[in-house]
Amino acid sequence: MADTAALRARSADFWARTAPGWIHQADRHDEIGRPLGAVAIEWLQPRPGERVLDIGCGCGGTTAELARAVTPSGSAIGLDLSEAMVASARRRFTEPDGAGPRFVAGDVETLDVVPGAPFDAAYSRMTLMLLADPVAGLTTIRRSLRVGARLAATVFRDGPANPWLPAALLGAAAHLGPLPPLPVGDEAGPFAFADPARVRRLLDAAGFTDVVVHPHDVTLETPDDPETVAEWLIEIGPAGAAYRAAGPAAQGSARAGAARLLARFHTPGTGYRLPAGLWSITARTPGTGAS
Ligand SMILES: C[S@@+](CC[C@H](N)C(=O)[O-])C[C@H]1O[C@@H](n2cnc3c(N)ncnc32)[C@H](O)[C@@H]1O
Repeated sequence: MADTAALRARSADFWARTAPGWIHQADRHDEIGRPLGAVAIEWLQPRPGERVLDIGCGCGGTTAELARAVTPSGSAIGLDLSEAMVASARRRFTEPDGAGPRFVAGDVETLDVVPGAPFDAAYSRMTLMLLADPVAGLTTIRRSLRVGARLAATVFRDGPANPWLPAALLGAAAHLGPLPPLPVGDEAGPFAFADPARVRRLLDAAGFTDVVVHPHDVTLETPDDPETVAEWLIEIGPAGAAYRAAGPAAQGSARAGAARLLARFHTPGTGYRLPAGLWSITARTPGTGAS
């Protein structure tokens, strides 16, 4: 396994290369990806007046949803490693008078606290398993929260619970240039939090209490458009940078290859139904403060 510094450098490089695909797919991902984080928002129940943090906010769709829930007197701040995605989030959601969610570029693993702390609640959709040093990142989140504050997050379980994810990559990869290194063992990656006992250990080590890790199954429903669905999944995955660098013929073959392996999830005339197996993670900061 690589050391933490090497994993962090790999992660920074990965997200710098993959950001353009996420920015291109931002509206589509907000729409199709909503079930991936809905259970965490339901548990969190952000209330008007609260200050809420969104860790690994990407292009800001979930931060904007949190900001709407805490309006008028509350606020939501999205933190993301990718400056390009943060810039996209600002373009998409900052209101003309400067109101709306705020966005900060930074690495949750190396910050002492997130700018804007202390927060009443923290939310994260599909990011915690991607941290090179999850205890460092979770510790920053815990330090950025008030006493008795709440954390709600979602992450993928394992590959078999999310078969469409490797299918899109495997179908596309043969037509594209070299991919980034795939994770080994517990290294940051989509299935790094597959073991719920490890997830609990990481949250305990970061100082959270009342840690609960629950399985939660959702279905992502997409438009009936194989090309569009294939491109969405390729662009937000490990083949995204190679796809964007490829010529039109290779891109077409990559989309067709992904669509072939995704066919089992497709009902012509209806669309795709992609089964996603998640962990819903909830916890609190120690103490008997509000909430
Ligand atoms: C899979 S994407 C999820 C984005 C968004 N939460 C969503 O569900 O659409 C993971 C995000 O985490 C961000 N990220 C990865 N490592 C991070 C770190 N150490 N600190 C802050 N953000 C990080 C990436 O830049 C990326 O935007």
